[in-house]
Amino acid sequence: MATKKTIAVVGATGAQGGGLVRAILADPGGEFAARALTRNTSSEKAKALAAQGAEVVAADVDDAESLRRAFSGAHGAFCVTFFWDHFSPEKEQAQAHAMAQAAKDAGVKHAIWSTLDDTRKWLPITDKRMPTLQGKYNVPHYDAKGEANAFFSEIGVPTTFLNTSFYWDNLIHFGSGPKKGPDGKLAFVLPMGDKKLPGIAAEDIGRCAYGIFKRPDLIGKTVGIAGEHLTGAQMAAALSKALGQEVVHNAVTPEVYRGFGFPGADELGNMFQIKADFEKEYCGARDVGFSRSLNPQLQTFAQWLAANKDRIPLG
Ligand SMILES: NC(=O)c1ccc[n+]([C@@H]2O[C@H](COP(=O)([O-])OP(=O)(O)OC[C@H]3O[C@@H](n4cnc5c(N)ncnc54)[C@H](OP(=O)(O)O)[C@@H]3O)[C@@H](O)[C@H]2O)c1
Repeated sequence: MATKKTIAVVGATGAQGGGLVRAILADPGGEFAARALTRNTSSEKAKALAAQGAEVVAADVDDAESLRRAFSGAHGAFCVTFFWDHFSPEKEQAQAHAMAQAAKDAGVKHAIWSTLDDTRKWLPITDKRMPTLQGKYNVPHYDAKGEANAFFSEIGVPTTFLNTSFYWDNLIHFGSGPKKGPDGKLAFVLPMGDKKLPGIAAEDIGRCAYGIFKRPDLIGKTVGIAGEHLTGAQMAAALSKALGQEVVHNAVTPEVYRGFGFPGADELGNMFQIKADFEKEYCGARDVGFSRSLNPQLQTFAQWLAANKDRIPLG
């Protein structure tokens, strides 16, 4: 049997990286083997990945030497950062830089950088329609990732730049699910009026990444993925059907959303406003047919809901 090509996966116990590790392991006849990076090799999640056949190694993206060791000998590297753990674009960029350098030093043949658009290419920060955040960003966790693309290209890492989409899993884990209003009705808040939001099952991001590693012709390219592009009203209708009770779309304005006061509300208000105001560009960069060509199992929102509706907290 030919030796398998190892893919080193950052965030392997999390959503994106976990999906990729599971996609590699689900294809035992395939050309790749999974190396799962984690800060804690004895956690339950790490042990479960090892039991399923992944090589599990210790690495911390804040420790350049550990990354270099973990990427060493790998054919591919999946690189992702963790903005919501710290809310710091500078930290995210330092981690992206460390991963790019480790990929270069290890001589990986194909890296995927899980990035997002630098929204300032569409909306200069001098525009007054939204507040500038953290000194120089419209949407820090987007703009800083987009800026970090250059770290990979400038030092010559053979990289596919992967623009991901809103996880439908945010309805379970991120407080984005329907909430009961004063009238007792469930309302799904999405401050995008009648504009479409590209969304995806988090598990499908890793499966698409697996499809990208099978496509060396995508090195040097920027690709965008989504499972479906849906308006808030369409998402509310799908939720009503899946949950068996009415869910209405509450299309608050981005200003109102920014004022909700939870950590990150201003950032997410700006993010949804950009997605609405630049719907054509944002949706255009996330083609569903192309995503399905990478990942034939790509789920629609209705399919994701059918499998996950009981996990959505209804506040
Ligand atoms: N939520 C969305 O809708 C959405 C959409 C698009 C993009 N994103 C982006 O997705 C990114 C997060 O990815 P995710 O959702 O896959 O993350 P996640 O599910 O939160 O998983 C993160 C995993 O990474 C590991 N990790 C955390 N800090 C680490 C460090 N310093 N060194 C090494 N590993 C570390 C942790 O594993 P161990 O504890 O095992 O080390 C954790 O299990 C964010 O940057 C966000 O902006 C999110």
